[in-house]
Amino acid sequence: MNHISIAIDGPSGAGKSTLARMTARHFGFLYVDTGALYRTVGLYVLRRGGDTKDPRAVEPLLPEIRVELKYDGAGIQRMILNGEDVSDDIRLPEVSMAASDVSAIPAVRAFLLETQRSLARRYDVIMDGRDIGTVVLPDAQVKIFLTASAQERARRRFLELQAKGVETDYDSVLRDIELRDKNDSGRAIAPLRPADDAVMLDTTEHDLEASFRLVCGIIEERRRDGR
Ligand code: DC
Repeated sequence: MNHISIAIDGPSGAGKSTLARMTARHFGFLYVDTGALYRTVGLYVLRRGGDTKDPRAVEPLLPEIRVELKYDGAGIQRMILNGEDVSDDIRLPEVSMAASDVSAIPAVRAFLLETQRSLARRYDVIMDGRDIGTVVLPDAQVKIFLTASAQERARRRFLELQAKGVETDYDSVLRDIELRDKNDSGRAIAPLRPADDAVMLDTTEHDLEASFRLVCGIIEERRRDGR
């Protein structure tokens, strides 16, 4: 049986993971957060003291890395790095930048590609990332490119970090988002860009509930059309 794949791509902080998780629950699909894979590789390189930007430092470490995805009883994705659950550690701000750095290295993208595709072969998935509609699942039935202004994305991320008790300030969160945008869109391999057949959705003016309804509407319409 062919499984259904839904790709949600877009820049950091556009609400992809929250919306993809809600939507996956609504339609009964598996939610796959692919950024967590890059974060796990970034965390490993940081822990080994490697330069996350340098392919010559990162590539030799890849054979030492075993990345697994697990789902807990509540259906929440957990990231396992060489047997250790690192789901909390990968959310630290320094790991965000390390993930962005290592994600520009072709060998890292190749290393993680099959993990992502094999999930889509086995389950109905909603996968979020940067290149899901363009590279990982170019045949996905539905592709959504989610955006919001950098200021609004920084505001949301700042509130999220604050709620988690992570010490930070709005300006550094904004700087971090702008830098990662530049990194993720400017890189030579699999840059962040909408697939030609993606539906664009700007959530700057929409709250979560309204964005969720819009995403569900896009998915229902595309599936009704049999695309
Ligand atoms: O979605 P996120 O912020 O957790 O992603 C962390 C980094 O990983 C992001 O800066 C870019 C990279 N990434 C990627 O290059 N391709 C993906 N499919 C997902 C994330």
